[in-house]
Amino acid sequence: MAKLTIPELWAMAEAGTPLSMITCYDYPSARLIDAAGVDIVLVGDSVAMTVLGHPNTLPATMDMMVIFAGAVARGCERAFVLGDMPYMSYQVSVPEAIRNAGRFMAEAGVDGVKLEGGRTMVGAVEAIVGAGIPVMGHLGLTPQSASAIGGYRVQGRSAATALALLDDALALEDAGVFAILLELVPARVAEVISQKVSVPTISIGSGSGCDGHCQIYHDAIGMFEAFTPRHAKRYAEVGATLREALARFQAEIKDGTYPGPEHAFRIGAEELRAFLAGAATRLGPGEIDELSRSLEDPPR
Ligand code: KIV
Repeated sequence: MAKLTIPELWAMAEAGTPLSMITCYDYPSARLIDAAGVDIVLVGDSVAMTVLGHPNTLPATMDMMVIFAGAVARGCERAFVLGDMPYMSYQVSVPEAIRNAGRFMAEAGVDGVKLEGGRTMVGAVEAIVGAGIPVMGHLGLTPQSASAIGGYRVQGRSAATALALLDDALALEDAGVFAILLELVPARVAEVISQKVSVPTISIGSGSGCDGHCQIYHDAIGMFEAFTPRHAKRYAEVGATLREALARFQAEIKDGTYPGPEHAFRIGAEELRAFLAGAATRLGPGEIDELSRSLEDPPR
């Protein structure tokens, strides 16, 4: 299967075919996502929360992101894979931003990177794009700056903040991003931004007027049962399925149902006899009798 290219993603958006995007953090899930035909796979720094159990995304580091991104990249033949630049991997200096984006490409084998922020990030975006690395922008609720923007809440609800988002989107477009993720932006604002910029916009909680739609993997499959954000839709109840399977596993070990003879391996009669003879030199007489009986027992 051929890898999707940016011109192909643009052509889909241009033709009015919505782009699909989902987060992913591991190889087996990446294979399933790729086989389903999802267009863009983001190895989000949300891994710090969804997989590692942190309360926010800030503890994600470049070293850990490269490991998760590598696993996902190896699982995706067709989908366009993005590494999410973690907190302080691109904010400190432009050279550091280029070096870290380059690590995603060279060490993890992704197809591009995503980073948060608008006009203040133009320098980093231009430099990374200039180094030949595709960049997706990320505006609206930018979780790495949640503390500064008033928490995990909808952004751009006033005319002034909505206009600021539009200006950020236009600046990112000028800086060379190939697409922009809009997170928790009012639907009408996201729609207008989508009309004003020429690159595709992807919505996560920003309504249906964007060129594509994104979800967090664990939300979409019902893996994290305790909470589903309002904008997410559960397509499966994987958490409930796993809970039930693990309860059966636990019960079958306790009641002896598992493992059965079909889960065990044979030793040939000759080898077993020789083994028992050898064991006889190491065991007491009572123990040898017991072992000898196993010659007639089901295979082990
Ligand atoms: O880290 C992440 O998963 C994200 C989501 C908003 C898509 O950036």
